[in-house]
Amino acid sequence: LQSLPCIETDVLVIGSGIAGLYTAIEAGKDHNVIMITKNALLESNTRYAQGGIAAVTSEDDSPAYHREDTLMAGAGLCSSAAVDVLVNEGPEGVRELIRLGTSFDLENGELALTQEGAHSRRRILHANGDATGFEIVRALAAQVQIHDRIQVWEHHFVIDVLTIENECIGALVQRPDGQRVYIKAGATILCTGGAGQLYRYTTNPDVATADGIAIAHRAGAQIRDMEFIQFHPTALCYPGAPRFLISEAVRGEGAVLRNIKGERFMEKYHELLELAPRDIVARAILSEMEETKSTFVYLDITHEPEDMLKHRFPTIYETCMNYGLDMAADWIPVAPAAHYMMGGVKTDLNGESSVSRLFACGEVSSTGVHGANRLASNSLSEAIVFGKRIVNRIKDLTPLYGAASIIHEDEERTGAPKQAMIERRLKLQKVMVRYAGLRRNETLLYKGLDELNRQLPIFHSELTRKEEFEFANMLTSCLLVTRAALERTESRGAHYREDYPQKDDVMWRKHLLQHRQDEIM
Ligand code: SIN
Repeated sequence: LQSLPCIETDVLVIGSGIAGLYTAIEAGKDHNVIMITKNALLESNTRYAQGGIAAVTSEDDSPAYHREDTLMAGAGLCSSAAVDVLVNEGPEGVRELIRLGTSFDLENGELALTQEGAHSRRRILHANGDATGFEIVRALAAQVQIHDRIQVWEHHFVIDVLTIENECIGALVQRPDGQRVYIKAGATILCTGGAGQLYRYTTNPDVATADGIAIAHRAGAQIRDMEFIQFHPTALCYPGAPRFLISEAVRGEGAVLRNIKGERFMEKYHELLELAPRDIVARAILSEMEETKSTFVYLDITHEPEDMLKHRFPTIYETCMNYGLDMAADWIPVAPAAHYMMGGVKTDLNGESSVSRLFACGEVSSTGVHGANRLASNSLSEAIVFGKRIVNRIKDLTPLYGAASIIHEDEERTGAPKQAMIERRLKLQKVMVRYAGLRRNETLLYKGLDELNRQLPIFHSELTRKEEFEFANMLTSCLLVTRAALERTESRGAHYREDYPQKDDVMWRKHLLQHRQDEIM
Protein backbone atom coordinates (compact mmCIF):
# COMPACT_ATOMS: atom_id res chain seq x y z
CA LEU A 1 0.00 0.00 0.00
CA GLN A 2 1.10 3.54 -0.69
CA SER A 3 -0.33 6.69 0.82
CA LEU A 4 -1.56 9.29 -1.61
CA PRO A 5 -0.89 13.01 -1.52
CA CYS A 6 -3.96 14.86 -0.23
CA ILE A 7 -5.08 18.27 -1.45
CA GLU A 8 -7.97 20.04 0.26
CA THR A 9 -10.57 22.29 -1.29
CA ASP A 10 -14.00 23.60 -0.36
CA VAL A 11 -15.68 22.52 -3.58
CA LEU A 12 -14.65 19.97 -6.18
CA VAL A 13 -16.31 20.33 -9.59
CA ILE A 14 -15.90 17.39 -11.97
CA GLY A 15 -16.48 18.29 -15.62
CA SER A 16 -16.26 21.44 -17.70
CA GLY A 17 -19.46 21.72 -19.75
CA ILE A 18 -22.04 24.39 -18.95
CA ALA A 19 -22.89 22.72 -15.60
CA GLY A 20 -19.27 22.55 -14.45
CA LEU A 21 -18.26 26.01 -15.63
CA TYR A 22 -21.31 27.80 -14.32
CA THR A 23 -21.32 25.98 -10.97
CA ALA A 24 -17.61 26.66 -10.49
CA ILE A 25 -18.15 30.39 -11.14
CA GLU A 26 -21.06 30.53 -8.70
CA ALA A 27 -19.20 28.50 -6.06
CA GLY A 28 -16.05 30.59 -6.58
CA LYS A 29 -17.85 33.65 -5.19
CA ASP A 30 -17.52 32.22 -1.66
CA HIS A 31 -15.37 29.11 -1.86
CA ASN A 32 -12.11 27.72 -3.14
CA VAL A 33 -12.85 25.47 -6.09
CA ILE A 34 -10.89 22.81 -7.93
CA MET A 35 -12.36 21.97 -11.32
CA ILE A 36 -11.25 18.71 -12.89
CA THR A 37 -11.77 17.90 -16.52
CA LYS A 38 -10.60 14.78 -18.28
CA ASN A 39 -9.87 16.61 -21.52
CA ALA A 40 -9.15 20.26 -22.38
CA LEU A 41 -11.23 22.90 -20.61
CA LEU A 42 -13.25 23.71 -23.72
CA GLU A 43 -14.05 20.12 -24.69
CA SER A 44 -17.49 18.97 -23.58
CA ASN A 45 -20.89 18.00 -24.91
CA THR A 46 -22.08 21.58 -24.35
CA ARG A 47 -19.54 22.88 -26.83
CA TYR A 48 -21.41 21.11 -29.64
CA ALA A 49 -24.93 22.21 -28.64
CA GLN A 50 -26.46 23.94 -31.62
CA GLY A 51 -30.15 24.67 -31.28
CA GLY A 52 -29.97 26.69 -28.12
CA ILE A 53 -31.27 27.29 -24.67
CA ALA A 54 -34.96 27.36 -23.80
CA ALA A 55 -36.26 30.09 -21.50
CA VAL A 56 -39.19 32.45 -21.46
CA THR A 57 -38.03 35.87 -22.60
CA SER A 58 -40.82 37.18 -24.84
CA GLU A 59 -44.10 38.94 -24.09
CA ASP A 60 -46.27 36.33 -25.80
CA ASP A 61 -44.76 33.46 -23.82
CA SER A 62 -45.06 32.55 -20.15
CA PRO A 63 -43.54 30.06 -17.67
CA ALA A 64 -46.95 28.34 -17.63
CA TYR A 65 -46.68 27.54 -21.37
CA HIS A 66 -43.09 26.39 -20.98
CA ARG A 67 -44.18 24.23 -18.05
CA GLU A 68 -47.01 22.68 -20.04
CA ASP A 69 -44.74 21.84 -23.00
CA THR A 70 -42.08 20.32 -20.73
CA LEU A 71 -44.63 18.17 -18.88
CA MET A 72 -46.21 17.05 -22.14
CA ALA A 73 -42.84 15.96 -23.59
CA GLY A 74 -41.94 14.20 -20.32
CA ALA A 75 -44.90 11.82 -20.78
CA GLY A 76 -46.08 11.69 -17.19
CA LEU A 77 -42.73 11.26 -15.47
CA CYS A 78 -41.55 14.83 -14.88
CA SER A 79 -41.40 16.10 -11.34
CA SER A 80 -43.70 19.11 -11.47
CA ALA A 81 -41.69 20.80 -8.71
CA ALA A 82 -38.48 20.43 -10.72
CA VAL A 83 -40.20 21.74 -13.84
CA ASP A 84 -41.45 24.75 -11.88
CA VAL A 85 -37.88 25.46 -10.85
CA LEU A 86 -36.75 25.28 -14.47
CA VAL A 87 -39.41 27.48 -16.02
CA ASN A 88 -39.49 30.08 -13.23
CA GLU A 89 -35.74 30.38 -12.64
CA GLY A 90 -34.64 29.83 -16.26
CA PRO A 91 -35.13 33.44 -17.45
CA GLU A 92 -32.90 34.81 -14.66
CA GLY A 93 -30.35 32.10 -15.47
CA VAL A 94 -30.21 33.29 -19.06
CA ARG A 95 -29.77 36.91 -17.93
CA GLU A 96 -26.92 35.69 -15.74
CA LEU A 97 -25.26 34.01 -18.73
CA ILE A 98 -25.51 37.31 -20.60
CA ARG A 99 -23.95 39.16 -17.64
CA LEU A 100 -21.13 36.60 -17.73
CA GLY A 101 -20.37 37.50 -21.33
CA THR A 102 -22.49 35.20 -23.50
CA SER A 103 -23.71 36.95 -26.66
CA PHE A 104 -27.00 35.53 -27.86
CA ASP A 105 -28.22 36.44 -31.35
CA LEU A 106 -30.41 39.52 -31.60
CA GLU A 107 -33.15 40.50 -34.01
CA ASN A 108 -34.25 44.14 -34.13
CA GLY A 109 -32.42 44.70 -30.84
CA GLU A 110 -34.33 41.93 -29.02
CA LEU A 111 -33.17 38.38 -28.26
CA ALA A 112 -33.75 36.32 -31.42
CA LEU A 113 -35.92 33.28 -30.73
CA THR A 114 -36.39 30.11 -32.71
CA GLN A 115 -38.79 27.19 -32.58
CA GLU A 116 -38.03 23.54 -31.87
CA GLY A 117 -40.10 20.36 -31.69
CA ALA A 118 -42.96 20.23 -29.15
CA HIS A 119 -42.48 23.87 -28.04
CA SER A 120 -45.72 25.83 -28.36
CA ARG A 121 -43.83 29.15 -28.61
CA ARG A 122 -40.63 30.46 -30.13
CA ARG A 123 -38.47 30.49 -26.98
CA ILE A 124 -35.09 29.09 -27.98
CA LEU A 125 -32.22 31.56 -27.69
CA HIS A 126 -29.22 30.89 -29.89
CA ALA A 127 -25.76 32.27 -30.53
CA ASN A 128 -23.76 32.70 -33.74
CA GLY A 129 -26.65 31.01 -35.54
CA ASP A 130 -26.11 27.38 -34.63
CA ALA A 131 -23.10 27.55 -32.30
CA THR A 132 -24.89 28.28 -29.03
CA GLY A 133 -23.00 25.78 -26.88
CA PHE A 134 -19.63 26.99 -28.06
CA GLU A 135 -20.47 30.61 -27.29
CA ILE A 136 -21.60 29.67 -23.78
CA VAL A 137 -18.49 27.63 -22.95
CA ARG A 138 -16.28 30.33 -24.48
CA ALA A 139 -17.78 33.00 -22.25
CA LEU A 140 -17.87 30.91 -19.08
CA ALA A 141 -14.41 29.37 -19.56
CA ALA A 142 -12.98 32.88 -19.94
CA GLN A 143 -14.41 33.74 -16.52
CA VAL A 144 -13.15 30.52 -14.96
CA GLN A 145 -9.63 31.05 -16.30
CA ILE A 146 -9.22 34.46 -14.68
CA HIS A 147 -10.95 33.55 -11.43
CA ASP A 148 -8.48 33.55 -8.55
CA ARG A 149 -10.46 31.08 -6.42
CA ILE A 150 -10.87 28.46 -9.16
CA GLN A 151 -8.04 26.08 -10.10
CA VAL A 152 -8.57 24.17 -13.34
CA TRP A 153 -6.94 20.77 -13.68
CA GLU A 154 -7.16 19.73 -17.33
CA HIS A 155 -6.49 16.17 -18.52
CA HIS A 156 -7.06 14.73 -15.04
CA PHE A 157 -9.36 11.77 -14.57
CA VAL A 158 -11.59 11.12 -11.58
CA ILE A 159 -11.43 7.42 -10.84
CA ASP A 160 -13.96 7.46 -8.02
CA VAL A 161 -15.52 9.68 -5.44
CA LEU A 162 -14.73 8.65 -1.88
CA THR A 163 -17.34 8.17 0.79
CA ILE A 164 -17.50 7.45 4.49
CA GLU A 165 -20.87 6.29 5.76
CA ASN A 166 -22.87 7.68 2.86
CA GLU A 167 -21.09 11.03 2.96
CA CYS A 168 -18.85 12.09 0.11
CA ILE A 169 -15.43 13.36 1.22
CA GLY A 170 -13.83 14.03 -2.15
CA ALA A 171 -12.35 12.03 -4.98
CA LEU A 172 -9.47 9.90 -6.15
CA VAL A 173 -7.90 11.53 -9.19
CA GLN A 174 -5.35 10.34 -11.71
CA ARG A 175 -2.96 12.95 -13.05
CA PRO A 176 -1.84 12.96 -16.70
CA ASP A 177 1.44 11.25 -15.71
CA GLY A 178 -0.46 8.40 -14.00
CA GLN A 179 0.22 9.62 -10.44
CA ARG A 180 -2.76 9.66 -8.16
CA VAL A 181 -3.96 12.22 -5.69
CA TYR A 182 -6.75 12.37 -3.14
CA ILE A 183 -8.77 15.57 -3.19
CA LYS A 184 -10.59 16.15 0.06
CA ALA A 185 -13.62 18.35 -0.57
CA GLY A 186 -16.49 19.73 1.48
CA ALA A 187 -18.76 19.30 -1.53
CA THR A 188 -18.25 17.29 -4.69
CA ILE A 189 -20.28 18.16 -7.78
CA LEU A 190 -20.53 15.73 -10.67
CA CYS A 191 -20.92 17.70 -13.91
CA THR A 192 -19.65 14.94 -16.13
CA GLY A 193 -22.28 15.18 -18.86
CA GLY A 194 -23.97 12.53 -20.88
CA ALA A 195 -23.77 9.02 -22.18
CA GLY A 196 -23.98 9.21 -25.98
CA GLN A 197 -20.85 7.11 -26.35
CA LEU A 198 -22.72 4.07 -25.04
CA TYR A 199 -24.00 3.84 -28.63
CA ARG A 200 -22.14 3.36 -31.88
CA TYR A 201 -23.99 6.27 -33.48
CA THR A 202 -24.18 9.41 -31.43
CA THR A 203 -24.20 13.17 -31.76
CA ASN A 204 -22.02 13.36 -28.62
CA PRO A 205 -18.24 13.77 -28.64
CA ASP A 206 -15.81 11.06 -27.47
CA VAL A 207 -15.80 12.36 -23.90
CA ALA A 208 -19.48 11.52 -23.26
CA THR A 209 -18.83 8.16 -21.60
CA ALA A 210 -21.27 8.32 -18.67
CA ASP A 211 -18.44 8.50 -16.12
CA GLY A 212 -20.42 10.38 -13.48
CA ILE A 213 -23.30 7.94 -13.51
CA ALA A 214 -20.98 4.97 -12.96
CA ILE A 215 -18.96 6.82 -10.32
CA ALA A 216 -22.10 7.77 -8.39
CA HIS A 217 -23.42 4.23 -8.70
CA ARG A 218 -20.23 2.78 -7.22
CA ALA A 219 -20.47 5.34 -4.43
CA GLY A 220 -23.92 4.03 -3.54
CA ALA A 221 -26.02 6.89 -4.95
CA GLN A 222 -29.44 6.17 -6.39
CA ILE A 223 -29.59 6.15 -10.18
CA ARG A 224 -32.93 6.83 -11.85
CA ASP A 225 -34.68 6.50 -15.23
CA MET A 226 -31.78 5.00 -17.17
CA GLU A 227 -34.08 3.46 -19.78
CA PHE A 228 -34.89 6.91 -21.13
CA ILE A 229 -32.36 7.79 -23.79
CA GLN A 230 -33.22 10.37 -26.38
CA PHE A 231 -32.23 9.67 -29.96
CA HIS A 232 -31.93 12.79 -32.06
CA PRO A 233 -33.82 12.22 -35.32
CA THR A 234 -31.45 14.05 -37.62
CA ALA A 235 -27.74 13.35 -37.46
CA LEU A 236 -25.76 13.54 -40.67
CA CYS A 237 -25.42 10.09 -42.22
CA TYR A 238 -22.89 10.27 -44.98
CA PRO A 239 -19.90 8.04 -45.82
CA GLY A 240 -16.80 9.23 -43.99
CA ALA A 241 -18.64 11.87 -41.95
CA PRO A 242 -19.24 11.69 -38.20
CA ARG A 243 -22.84 11.63 -36.97
CA PHE A 244 -22.83 15.38 -36.92
CA LEU A 245 -25.96 16.95 -35.42
CA ILE A 246 -28.31 18.69 -37.84
CA SER A 247 -30.17 20.85 -35.37
CA GLU A 248 -33.88 20.54 -34.82
CA ALA A 249 -33.90 24.28 -35.43
CA VAL A 250 -33.45 23.43 -39.13
CA ARG A 251 -36.85 21.75 -38.98
CA GLY A 252 -37.99 24.68 -36.85
CA GLU A 253 -37.20 26.89 -39.85
CA GLY A 254 -39.31 24.71 -42.14
CA ALA A 255 -37.11 21.79 -43.29
CA VAL A 256 -39.09 18.68 -44.24
CA LEU A 257 -38.20 14.98 -44.07
CA ARG A 258 -38.37 12.78 -47.14
CA ASN A 259 -37.73 9.09 -47.58
CA ILE A 260 -35.33 7.96 -50.27
CA LYS A 261 -38.17 7.92 -52.79
CA GLY A 262 -38.49 11.66 -52.18
CA GLU A 263 -41.85 11.33 -50.37
CA ARG A 264 -42.67 13.41 -47.30
CA PHE A 265 -43.81 10.98 -44.64
CA MET A 266 -44.37 12.67 -41.28
CA GLU A 267 -48.10 13.17 -41.94
CA LYS A 268 -48.45 9.37 -41.54
CA TYR A 269 -47.05 9.58 -38.01
CA HIS A 270 -48.04 12.77 -36.18
CA GLU A 271 -50.12 15.91 -36.62
CA LEU A 272 -47.14 18.09 -35.69
CA LEU A 273 -45.30 16.63 -38.68
CA GLU A 274 -41.54 17.32 -38.60
CA LEU A 275 -41.88 19.11 -35.25
CA ALA A 276 -43.51 16.20 -33.45
CA PRO A 277 -41.75 14.98 -30.26
CA ARG A 278 -38.30 13.60 -30.98
CA ASP A 279 -39.00 9.97 -30.17
CA ILE A 280 -41.86 9.96 -32.64
CA VAL A 281 -39.83 11.58 -35.41
CA ALA A 282 -36.88 9.26 -34.72
CA ARG A 283 -39.01 6.10 -34.87
CA ALA A 284 -40.85 7.37 -37.95
CA ILE A 285 -37.50 7.80 -39.67
CA LEU A 286 -36.46 4.29 -38.61
CA SER A 287 -39.70 2.85 -40.04
CA GLU A 288 -39.15 4.68 -43.34
CA MET A 289 -35.55 3.49 -43.46
CA GLU A 290 -36.69 -0.10 -42.95
CA GLU A 291 -39.51 0.17 -45.46
CA THR A 292 -37.25 1.59 -48.15
CA LYS A 293 -34.28 -0.59 -47.11
CA SER A 294 -32.13 2.47 -46.67
CA THR A 295 -29.72 3.58 -43.95
CA PHE A 296 -30.97 7.17 -44.07
CA VAL A 297 -33.75 9.58 -45.01
CA TYR A 298 -33.38 13.11 -46.33
CA LEU A 299 -33.78 16.49 -44.69
CA ASP A 300 -34.85 19.08 -47.25
CA ILE A 301 -34.43 22.79 -46.59
CA THR A 302 -33.79 23.72 -50.20
CA HIS A 303 -36.72 26.18 -50.13
CA GLU A 304 -34.50 28.58 -48.16
CA PRO A 305 -32.01 30.76 -49.98
CA GLU A 306 -28.29 30.15 -49.56
CA ASP A 307 -27.76 33.48 -47.75
CA MET A 308 -30.30 32.67 -45.08
CA LEU A 309 -28.81 29.20 -44.50
CA LYS A 310 -25.26 30.51 -44.29
CA HIS A 311 -26.31 33.17 -41.82
CA ARG A 312 -28.66 31.11 -39.65
CA PHE A 313 -26.81 27.78 -39.70
CA PRO A 314 -23.16 28.60 -40.41
CA THR A 315 -21.69 25.53 -38.68
CA ILE A 316 -24.10 23.07 -40.24
CA TYR A 317 -23.79 24.72 -43.65
CA GLU A 318 -20.02 24.57 -43.60
CA THR A 319 -19.85 21.01 -42.24
CA CYS A 320 -22.22 19.74 -44.93
CA MET A 321 -20.26 21.65 -47.57
CA ASN A 322 -17.07 19.88 -46.37
CA TYR A 323 -18.71 16.65 -47.53
CA GLY A 324 -19.91 18.14 -50.79
CA LEU A 325 -23.48 18.67 -49.56
CA ASP A 326 -24.98 22.07 -50.31
CA MET A 327 -27.97 22.63 -48.01
CA ALA A 328 -29.42 25.18 -50.42
CA ALA A 329 -29.49 22.68 -53.29
CA ASP A 330 -29.14 19.16 -51.87
CA TRP A 331 -31.26 17.09 -49.57
CA ILE A 332 -29.14 16.14 -46.55
CA PRO A 333 -28.94 12.41 -45.66
CA VAL A 334 -29.77 11.95 -41.97
CA ALA A 335 -30.49 9.16 -39.49
CA PRO A 336 -31.24 9.02 -35.74
CA ALA A 337 -28.35 8.92 -33.27
CA ALA A 338 -28.08 8.70 -29.48
CA HIS A 339 -28.23 12.24 -28.15
CA TYR A 340 -29.30 12.75 -24.55
CA MET A 341 -29.59 10.73 -21.35
CA MET A 342 -32.77 11.70 -19.47
CA GLY A 343 -31.86 9.47 -16.53
CA GLY A 344 -28.88 9.71 -14.24
CA VAL A 345 -27.97 10.47 -10.66
CA LYS A 346 -31.17 11.14 -8.77
CA THR A 347 -31.08 14.50 -7.03
CA ASP A 348 -33.36 16.62 -4.90
CA LEU A 349 -34.32 20.16 -5.86
CA ASN A 350 -30.95 21.37 -4.59
CA GLY A 351 -29.05 19.00 -6.82
CA GLU A 352 -27.95 16.73 -3.96
CA SER A 353 -27.78 13.00 -4.59
CA SER A 354 -28.78 10.33 -2.08
CA VAL A 355 -25.16 10.43 -0.85
CA SER A 356 -24.70 13.57 1.23
CA ARG A 357 -22.23 16.18 -0.04
CA LEU A 358 -22.34 14.53 -3.48
CA PHE A 359 -24.17 16.67 -6.03
CA ALA A 360 -24.98 16.18 -9.70
CA CYS A 361 -25.66 18.92 -12.22
CA GLY A 362 -26.52 18.88 -15.92
CA GLU A 363 -26.95 15.79 -18.05
CA VAL A 364 -25.43 13.43 -15.46
CA SER A 365 -28.27 14.28 -13.07
CA SER A 366 -31.84 13.17 -12.90
CA THR A 367 -33.51 16.21 -11.34
CA GLY A 368 -36.97 15.26 -12.57
CA VAL A 369 -37.13 18.01 -15.20
CA HIS A 370 -37.09 15.76 -18.26
CA GLY A 371 -39.25 12.80 -17.26
CA ALA A 372 -39.39 10.19 -19.99
CA ASN A 373 -38.41 12.61 -22.76
CA ARG A 374 -36.61 15.93 -22.76
CA LEU A 375 -38.05 18.96 -24.45
CA ALA A 376 -35.45 20.31 -26.88
CA SER A 377 -33.07 22.91 -25.47
CA ASN A 378 -34.20 22.46 -21.85
CA SER A 379 -30.89 20.92 -20.86
CA LEU A 380 -28.68 24.00 -20.94
CA SER A 381 -31.24 25.91 -18.86
CA GLU A 382 -31.50 23.02 -16.40
CA ALA A 383 -27.74 23.11 -15.82
CA ILE A 384 -27.62 26.79 -14.84
CA VAL A 385 -30.79 26.76 -12.76
CA PHE A 386 -29.78 23.73 -10.72
CA GLY A 387 -26.12 24.82 -10.62
CA LYS A 388 -27.20 27.92 -8.76
CA ARG A 389 -29.32 25.91 -6.35
CA ILE A 390 -26.44 23.53 -5.63
CA VAL A 391 -24.20 26.44 -4.68
CA ASN A 392 -26.90 27.89 -2.43
CA ARG A 393 -27.18 24.53 -0.69
CA ILE A 394 -23.41 24.24 -0.30
CA LYS A 395 -23.40 27.54 1.60
CA ASP A 396 -25.37 25.80 4.36
CA LEU A 397 -23.05 22.81 4.68
CA THR A 398 -20.92 22.57 7.81
CA PRO A 399 -17.18 22.08 7.22
CA LEU A 400 -16.08 18.52 6.59
CA TYR A 401 -14.69 17.42 9.98
CA GLY A 402 -12.87 14.21 10.64
CA ALA A 403 -12.67 12.91 7.08
CA ALA A 404 -9.60 10.88 6.26
CA SER A 405 -6.63 12.98 5.27
CA ILE A 406 -4.59 10.02 4.07
CA ILE A 407 -5.85 7.50 1.57
CA HIS A 408 -3.93 4.33 0.80
CA GLU A 409 -4.12 2.36 -2.36
CA ASP A 410 -2.65 -0.73 -3.85
CA GLU A 411 0.59 -0.14 -5.71
CA GLU A 412 0.14 -3.14 -7.97
CA ARG A 413 -1.76 -2.23 -11.11
CA THR A 414 -1.82 -3.73 -14.53
CA GLY A 415 -3.32 -2.25 -17.68
CA ALA A 416 -4.89 -3.77 -20.77
CA PRO A 417 -3.25 -2.83 -24.08
CA LYS A 418 -4.74 0.34 -25.61
CA GLN A 419 -5.89 -1.32 -28.84
CA ALA A 420 -7.81 -3.96 -26.89
CA MET A 421 -9.74 -1.22 -25.10
CA ILE A 422 -10.66 0.52 -28.37
CA GLU A 423 -12.04 -2.74 -29.73
CA ARG A 424 -13.95 -3.53 -26.56
CA ARG A 425 -15.50 -0.06 -26.58
CA LEU A 426 -16.64 -0.44 -30.16
CA LYS A 427 -18.14 -3.83 -29.41
CA LEU A 428 -20.05 -2.40 -26.46
CA GLN A 429 -21.42 0.43 -28.60
CA LYS A 430 -22.62 -2.03 -31.23
CA VAL A 431 -24.29 -4.21 -28.61
CA MET A 432 -26.24 -1.19 -27.37
CA VAL A 433 -27.38 -0.18 -30.86
CA ARG A 434 -28.51 -3.71 -31.67
CA TYR A 435 -30.13 -4.70 -28.41
CA ALA A 436 -31.06 -1.57 -26.45
CA GLY A 437 -31.59 1.08 -29.13
CA LEU A 438 -34.56 2.99 -30.46
CA ARG A 439 -36.86 -0.05 -30.51
CA ARG A 440 -36.54 -2.67 -27.80
CA ASN A 441 -38.12 -5.98 -26.88
CA GLU A 442 -37.56 -8.63 -24.25
CA THR A 443 -35.63 -11.02 -26.48
CA LEU A 444 -33.25 -8.32 -27.67
CA LEU A 445 -32.74 -6.89 -24.21
CA TYR A 446 -31.93 -10.29 -22.71
CA LYS A 447 -29.42 -10.88 -25.50
CA GLY A 448 -27.94 -7.47 -24.80
CA LEU A 449 -27.65 -8.22 -21.09
CA ASP A 450 -25.99 -11.49 -21.86
CA GLU A 451 -23.40 -9.79 -24.08
CA LEU A 452 -22.76 -7.11 -21.48
CA ASN A 453 -22.41 -9.61 -18.65
CA ARG A 454 -19.76 -11.41 -20.65
CA GLN A 455 -17.58 -8.30 -20.33
CA LEU A 456 -17.62 -8.62 -16.55
CA PRO A 457 -16.01 -8.65 -14.06
CA ILE A 458 -13.85 -5.54 -14.17
CA PHE A 459 -11.65 -4.83 -11.16
CA HIS A 460 -10.80 -1.19 -10.68
CA SER A 461 -7.59 -2.06 -8.88
CA GLU A 462 -6.31 -3.51 -12.15
CA LEU A 463 -7.00 -0.47 -14.28
CA THR A 464 -4.47 2.21 -15.09
CA ARG A 465 -5.43 4.05 -18.25
CA LYS A 466 -8.12 6.63 -18.81
CA GLU A 467 -9.64 4.57 -21.60
CA GLU A 468 -9.88 1.57 -19.29
CA PHE A 469 -11.72 3.55 -16.65
CA GLU A 470 -13.98 4.99 -19.33
CA PHE A 471 -14.72 1.52 -20.62
CA ALA A 472 -15.56 0.32 -17.10
CA ASN A 473 -17.84 3.33 -16.61
CA MET A 474 -19.53 2.72 -19.95
CA LEU A 475 -20.09 -0.93 -19.16
CA THR A 476 -21.67 -0.08 -15.81
CA SER A 477 -23.94 2.46 -17.49
CA CYS A 478 -24.86 0.08 -20.32
CA LEU A 479 -25.94 -2.45 -17.72
CA LEU A 480 -28.00 0.17 -15.90
CA VAL A 481 -29.72 1.15 -19.17
CA THR A 482 -30.40 -2.39 -20.30
CA ARG A 483 -31.70 -3.63 -16.96
CA ALA A 484 -34.06 -0.69 -16.67
CA ALA A 485 -35.24 -1.09 -20.26
CA LEU A 486 -36.01 -4.73 -19.59
CA GLU A 487 -37.84 -3.94 -16.38
CA ARG A 488 -40.13 -1.28 -17.86
CA THR A 489 -42.72 -3.32 -19.70
CA GLU A 490 -44.48 -0.45 -21.44
CA SER A 491 -43.66 2.27 -23.98
CA ARG A 492 -43.33 5.80 -22.70
CA GLY A 493 -41.46 8.84 -23.98
CA ALA A 494 -38.11 7.81 -25.40
CA HIS A 495 -38.42 4.20 -24.20
CA TYR A 496 -40.19 2.09 -26.81
CA ARG A 497 -40.92 -1.61 -26.35
CA GLU A 498 -42.25 -3.42 -29.45
CA ASP A 499 -43.66 -6.10 -27.16
CA TYR A 500 -45.41 -3.50 -24.97
CA PRO A 501 -46.22 -0.70 -27.42
CA GLN A 502 -48.71 1.12 -25.16
CA LYS A 503 -48.18 3.48 -22.27
CA ASP A 504 -49.42 1.82 -19.07
CA ASP A 505 -50.30 4.52 -16.56
CA VAL A 506 -51.74 2.08 -14.05
CA MET A 507 -48.55 0.04 -13.62
CA TRP A 508 -45.83 2.29 -14.86
CA ARG A 509 -46.39 5.92 -14.03
CA LYS A 510 -43.39 5.59 -11.77
CA HIS A 511 -39.62 5.76 -11.82
CA LEU A 512 -37.11 2.96 -11.77
CA LEU A 513 -34.36 3.40 -9.22
CA GLN A 514 -31.15 1.40 -9.23
CA HIS A 515 -28.47 1.25 -6.58
CA ARG A 516 -25.18 -0.51 -6.03
CA GLN A 517 -26.73 -3.84 -5.10
CA ASP A 518 -28.17 -3.81 -8.62
CA GLU A 519 -31.71 -4.02 -7.42
CA ILE A 520 -34.45 -2.30 -9.32
CA MET A 521 -36.98 -0.77 -6.97
C1 SIN B 1 -30.72 20.55 -31.60
O1 SIN B 1 -30.16 21.60 -31.91
O2 SIN B 1 -31.49 19.95 -32.31
C2 SIN B 1 -30.41 19.99 -30.26
C3 SIN B 1 -31.09 20.75 -29.23
C4 SIN B 1 -31.26 19.90 -28.03
O3 SIN B 1 -31.01 18.70 -28.09
O4 SIN B 1 -31.72 20.42 -27.02
